[in-house]
Amino acid sequence: MAQYKPRMTQTLTLRRPDDWHLHLRDGAMLKAVAPETARHFGRAIIMPNLVPPVVTGAEAIAYRGRIMAALPENTGFSPLMTLYLTESTDPDDLEAAYTSGLITAVKLYPAGATTNSASGVRNFDNVRPVLERMAEIGCPLCVHGEVVDDDIDIFDREAVFIDRVLDPLRRSVPALRVIMEHITTSQGVEYAASGGPDLGATITTHHLVINRNHILAGGIRPHYYCLPVAKRETHRLALLEAATRGPSNFFLGTDSAPHPDHAKEAACGCAGCFTATNTLSILAEVFEKAGKLDCLEDFASLNGPAFYRLPANEEMVTLTKGQPVCYPDHITTQDATVTVFDPGFPLHWRVD
Ligand code: NCD
Ligand code: ZN
Repeated sequence: MAQYKPRMTQTLTLRRPDDWHLHLRDGAMLKAVAPETARHFGRAIIMPNLVPPVVTGAEAIAYRGRIMAALPENTGFSPLMTLYLTESTDPDDLEAAYTSGLITAVKLYPAGATTNSASGVRNFDNVRPVLERMAEIGCPLCVHGEVVDDDIDIFDREAVFIDRVLDPLRRSVPALRVIMEHITTSQGVEYAASGGPDLGATITTHHLVINRNHILAGGIRPHYYCLPVAKRETHRLALLEAATRGPSNFFLGTDSAPHPDHAKEAACGCAGCFTATNTLSILAEVFEKAGKLDCLEDFASLNGPAFYRLPANEEMVTLTKGQPVCYPDHITTQDATVTVFDPGFPLHWRVD
């Protein structure tokens, strides 16, 4: 007797998502990773932590040109450029770059906090005039929120940053619009939720999936190491609750941060998870498991543009549920491989 399997197709259609925190790098790596993001996303905030960093408007124009050249034809993807804030950033150059539409935001790295952050800010008093100018013109500040003092435990870096740096900074420049990037703690969630309309927060894909056990228990897993480092499970659950609130000031910033495998699988491996390739399928799985699939569009496609005061993308994307989708384990650049983030569970939502 013929066996008839019921065909359960489920589809989910949402506005094309954006990625509000992305590392595209340069050269051969840029060529390899740009198509991975352009395939599913409409826009992305492009991190400026190249070596040397993107500090001036002229450097942002040149970098934007290299990104456009690395994109496949007819993608419709728009890179939203940022400048890397240094203690010698020129407020006039910044203002010209922002008011002309060349840049969408400015990025603050505390010096030494993460990959390629040596040119970041050491003394916050030295950037106050720039921050005041940004507040005047409405230019948002994307903040990597970790203190880097040796006496602060790495798992406490974010919570201490909020108390010692972020809160005082927001009080001293109250009109400044701030995005707390890649938050990893319940303290980050609470602070972001209480900050009013000028405070937003991004959450990565991987921080919704892994906790610190995934990195350290049963062997060290370099491809799960990123900064801010994943915290304990209670914090992951707080992030998941925040991401699935529906309309809110929490939105997707993947922090997809490609590194060659040889640089991650090393005695001193570098920080960054590469999630551009499979992010949407992972998010659909995570939101579905949380019973919040209906909130995915808010998180990935609507809350970000609302915070940045930009229209949501007109185009739609459809995800279809079925047999597990296979993504490559890694992608290749001219001379290296980059491991694609492994969520550790099968992905049933395919992006059409
Ligand atoms: C990022 C990188 O590799 O550029 N690494 C990371 O772990 N997230 C830098 C950053 O955003 O902190
Ligand atoms: Zn980043």
